[in-house]
Amino acid sequence: MSEHPTHQLPSYLNSHELGPWGVYLEQVERVTPYLGKLSKWVETLKRPKRSLIVDVPIELDNGTIAHFEGYRVQHNTTRGPGKGGVRFHQDVTLSEVMALAAWMSVKTAAVNLPFGGAKGGIRIDPRNYSRGELERITRRYTSEIGVIIGPNKDIPAPDVNTNAQTMAWMMDTYSMNEGATTTGVVTGKPVSLGGSLGRVEATGRGVYVVGCEAARDKGIPIEGARVVIQGFGNVGGTAARLFYEAGAKVIAVQDHTGCVHNANGLEVLALLKHVEEHGGVAGCPDAESLGAADFWALETELLIPAALESQINEDNANSVRARIVIEGANGPTTPEADDILTSKGTLIVPDVLANAGGVTVSYFEWVQDFSSFYWTEPEINHRLEAMMRAAYTSVAAVADKHQVTQRTAAFITACTRILESREVRGLYP
Ligand SMILES: NC(=O)c1ccc[n+]([C@@H]2O[C@H](COP(=O)([O-])OP(=O)(O)OC[C@H]3O[C@@H](n4cnc5c(N)ncnc54)[C@H](O)[C@@H]3O)[C@@H](O)[C@H]2O)c1
Repeated sequence: MSEHPTHQLPSYLNSHELGPWGVYLEQVERVTPYLGKLSKWVETLKRPKRSLIVDVPIELDNGTIAHFEGYRVQHNTTRGPGKGGVRFHQDVTLSEVMALAAWMSVKTAAVNLPFGGAKGGIRIDPRNYSRGELERITRRYTSEIGVIIGPNKDIPAPDVNTNAQTMAWMMDTYSMNEGATTTGVVTGKPVSLGGSLGRVEATGRGVYVVGCEAARDKGIPIEGARVVIQGFGNVGGTAARLFYEAGAKVIAVQDHTGCVHNANGLEVLALLKHVEEHGGVAGCPDAESLGAADFWALETELLIPAALESQINEDNANSVRARIVIEGANGPTTPEADDILTSKGTLIVPDVLANAGGVTVSYFEWVQDFSSFYWTEPEINHRLEAMMRAAYTSVAAVADKHQVTQRTAAFITACTRILESREVRGLYP
């Protein structure tokens, strides 16, 4: 981003040393040539619409007062209210929240959900606080950001270190301040409070659906296809089970306790039970353990990173022998690894598309809360699968048309939708 020469100090919009925000700005630069006339609006994408920084003071259990930094960023609300999680982490910064909010704008537009992108966070290591303290922090934060959130304005959801209980406290606080029970102000709530059936499995199910579509594009039958998965939690565990039930062979799984491998296919249901009982995949019967380097080098049809960021990087990308990578995690492939895999002919289904199943069922939760009419789990899964398939098809068509990666195609699709809306809405005033 160009700096105005008269400004001595960097603006918060400056990408210099701003980590994820800098990466996001680079991604926008890369799609700009494909936006045609709409590129006149592209600066919109480089500036969050609204960024709120709040002080969150609470009384700790020992009677002292502690203050925390809280953020809520609404990156873009052109296509609908902001949507995005709330993260509790000691490393949360404004620029990180700005980038995560921007990626939510891209994700909701890539899947064509009627939302914009937003994100929130509190700079805190939640492991150091009691349940009562976390409840007070959540409630004060919700009250402080209450001026900009709401079912028609911006709808938070869980993210790293927050969960259905956090959402229940947020919903209650917002409702108390409004004087009306407002279930639609957050998603990812407990089902007893207006949460949606199918939400827990939604991201893994979306990964499975786009994985099947990508395999079909590559002429690979799911029956008998080899699948390697990093992360066996909510996303990886669900995806593993669905591929296993469809007849694929899950040959290796890695989690924080180690890697397990069986060339004939792991017994996924038994492995899920083992993880429930032992806290990780290590020591699972009927499997051999494997070092990390061997894990990444396994020959496989599908590789699903579903744990952390930057797992496929310059160090291991050359050894990866997967025909398709489905990004269950957010940001699992570094830009360098992206180029290496693409040059080898690996198809990468990007995170903004592959893991959008979660926000899609959050959208269903919001719709159900508005109508106070709740759908069955088969109805939810059916609608989720249809939306994920449609999103995959439209991104794959753009990739084909411009001869670009699916990541660039997802950004072209999303940015075009956002900027078309911007253009027809016009600038106020
Ligand atoms: N849950 C959702 O709805 C959702 C939606 C979109 C994106 N995601 C992304 O998917 C990823 C996984 O989320 P989740 O909800 O499944 O989390 P989770 O906590 O349920 O599971 C995380 C898994 O990663 C494994 N893991 C942790 N550290 C590891 C390491 N160093 N090496 C190998 N494995 C490790 C854990 O053992 C666990 O199996 C994250 O990037 C998250 O942002 C999740």
